[in-house]
Amino acid sequence: MSFARTASLMRRGADFLGSEHAIMCGAMSWVSERHLVAAISNAGGFGVIACGAMTPALLDQEITATKKLTQKPFGVNLITMHPDIMALIDVCAGHQVGHVVLAGGVPPKGSVEAISSSGAKVICFAPTLALAKKLLRTGADAMVIEGMEAGGHIGPVSTSVLAQEILPHLGKDYLVFVAGGIGRGEAIAGYLEMGAAGVQLGTRFACATESIAHPDFKKAFFRASARDAVTSVQLDARLPVIPVRALRNKGAEAFTAKQREVAGLLDGQTVEMAEAQLQIEHYWAGALRRAVIDGDVENGSMMAGQSVGMVTKEEPVADIILALMEEAEAALSRR
Ligand SMILES: Cc1cc2nc3c(=O)[nH]c(=O)nc-3n(C[C@H](O)[C@H](O)[C@H](O)COP(=O)(O)O)c2cc1C
Repeated sequence: MSFARTASLMRRGADFLGSEHAIMCGAMSWVSERHLVAAISNAGGFGVIACGAMTPALLDQEITATKKLTQKPFGVNLITMHPDIMALIDVCAGHQVGHVVLAGGVPPKGSVEAISSSGAKVICFAPTLALAKKLLRTGADAMVIEGMEAGGHIGPVSTSVLAQEILPHLGKDYLVFVAGGIGRGEAIAGYLEMGAAGVQLGTRFACATESIAHPDFKKAFFRASARDAVTSVQLDARLPVIPVRALRNKGAEAFTAKQREVAGLLDGQTVEMAEAQLQIEHYWAGALRRAVIDGDVENGSMMAGQSVGMVTKEEPVADIILALMEEAEAALSRR
């Protein structure tokens, strides 16, 4: 099948990524490792390794292993607050990774420049139009705008509102990828028409056949509906928790208890603020691993977006991408 209309709207994004379609699989810690990343890129999308809390040595191994599974371009997602961020950038440069995605906050000083000088493209997240403009002015090559429907750490604004606020201003002159809550191609078509260069999906790909996520993690996704993917609650104003969207379970309740515990430590002045916040973040890193790798769907963190209701069975990545492209093309053809 030809996807002429969709391909035409995706051309800028696909050229930038070096992929057939401008469909990125957003990095998902523990899920987006060599197998899923290579499968996405081999199927014409753009896979992104989730570095998460990996050490530089581990990232080095992961990139090497991914390269053995695909000849196609893929990216690496680095969390801006990683203590070894500059060493991780060096690892990417050593492998000549073409695209580095900086997630989790404003990029630290020198990081964007270091990535650019290695020859790689820099992709940043922007939660507001003002920050998007600033990042693009200061060296970012493309942006992802991600709404609160998404799985994992989220901002407060929905994808549909962010897209209306940002795409009319930046979509024509810059490359903006839209993420959050995308489960079908009709939505992709809509964002492309509004000026997006492409899209990023996470939840829809998390349970693909090639994903190494535990079978119980996948089963929980297949059973869940949109309303099961809820956001974590912040308990204490001193501990500004970035909300996380995940399937409701005992682990989510435990996170609330963890905040109460850390707030108590702050009250007793037995812990510094920075350490307290780190404890909260580390809680999620370990909990996600328990869910994805060990299959502990009760106590682990089941990060998932609201589009989880549209994930009903295990399918090869290539079939998911094909379905998305067919749906987008059919929608555009009906216009
Ligand atoms: C299980 C899971 C883990 C995630 N981990 C990360 C991460 O480590 N870094 C990151 O930038 N985004 C992370 N995300 C967000 C995805 O990259 C992507 O932007 C998001 O899933 C898109 O929204 P969707 O889930 O509605 O498709 C994660 C999402 C999920 C579902």
